[in-house]
Amino acid sequence: MEKVILNNKLECPVIGIGTFMLSPAEAQNSVREALKMGYSLVDTANAYVNERACGRGMKESGIRREDIFLSTKLWPSEYENENAVDETLERLGTNYIDLLYIHQPAGNWLAGYRQLEKAYKEGKVKAIGISNFEGKYLEELQTKWEIVPQFIQVEAHPYFTQSQLRKILDQYEIRLMSWYPLGHGDKALLEEPVFIELAKKYGKTPTQIILRWHTQMGFVVIPGSKNVEHIKDNLDILDFKLTEEEMAEIAKLDKGERYYHRTDAQLANFASWKPQFETR
Ligand SMILES: NC(=O)c1ccc[n+]([C@@H]2O[C@H](COP(=O)([O-])OP(=O)(O)OC[C@H]3O[C@@H](n4cnc5c(N)ncnc54)[C@H](OP(=O)(O)O)[C@@H]3O)[C@@H](O)[C@H]2O)c1
Repeated sequence: MEKVILNNKLECPVIGIGTFMLSPAEAQNSVREALKMGYSLVDTANAYVNERACGRGMKESGIRREDIFLSTKLWPSEYENENAVDETLERLGTNYIDLLYIHQPAGNWLAGYRQLEKAYKEGKVKAIGISNFEGKYLEELQTKWEIVPQFIQVEAHPYFTQSQLRKILDQYEIRLMSWYPLGHGDKALLEEPVFIELAKKYGKTPTQIILRWHTQMGFVVIPGSKNVEHIKDNLDILDFKLTEEEMAEIAKLDKGERYYHRTDAQLANFASWKPQFETR
């Protein structure tokens, strides 16, 4: 498995399994099968309400905990809960998290970030991250962080390559983890002629070309899937390399357009929404 080196020298696999919008049963199945077939990165979140199921999938896979890179996220309503990290550990059935994010720049997010820093110092968390902290939020955090985060998780795909944000990330060697890497399954993206053409050339699918593009951009990619065949295909992207010319062709697709547009009203709702955690 190819890995990237983080700004604290930790290593992270370049591809993992995403679990957004997967029910507990689906997440358990996807995580177990992904790990069994060679994945070693799992991404979940308090808000997905499938952390217990991901923990079960990890155990059922038979893969040793130390061979898994586990990423999860604190939800804003947990930022001022001083037990939030321990409760997250308990749900996941583990005694450390490889990467813990604050999920949204909502509510008292600085309190959330301080919790990450504390957990990092205590060794409960091996790396810390911010999710959806573009623009003014990242600017403010830069004046307040004690520990520079290792990751930012944001929407990124060939239509939206985060070119502005990446200039800041480069200064601090912060890695980008792409969400909606496949445009959440958008056919227009998956069927772009350039991907169909490259798929023919390399004997791959257009989806695999897109995922390979992410890794060659230096992004860590976590395609979500509840389909075992898709999960298998998504991992099979590391035996070919797009040329510089091909990367330049794909770069022409960048429209600077997101799929997901978050409003201030949504951020306010995020702060008050409480996930109904699984009880078992
Ligand atoms: N931090 C955040 O705020 C945030 C927001 C969104 C997502 N995320 C994270 O990022 C991950 C990825 O985002 P996402 O899951 O929303 O979107 P995505 O990975 O862009 O797309 C997922 C969709 O693509 C389909 N798909 C996956 N592999 C495929 C393949 N090989 N061929 C055809 N279709 C395929 C899936 O359907 P099947 O199930 O049928 O395969 C699913 O409908 C999430 O799972 C989550 O872990 C984070």
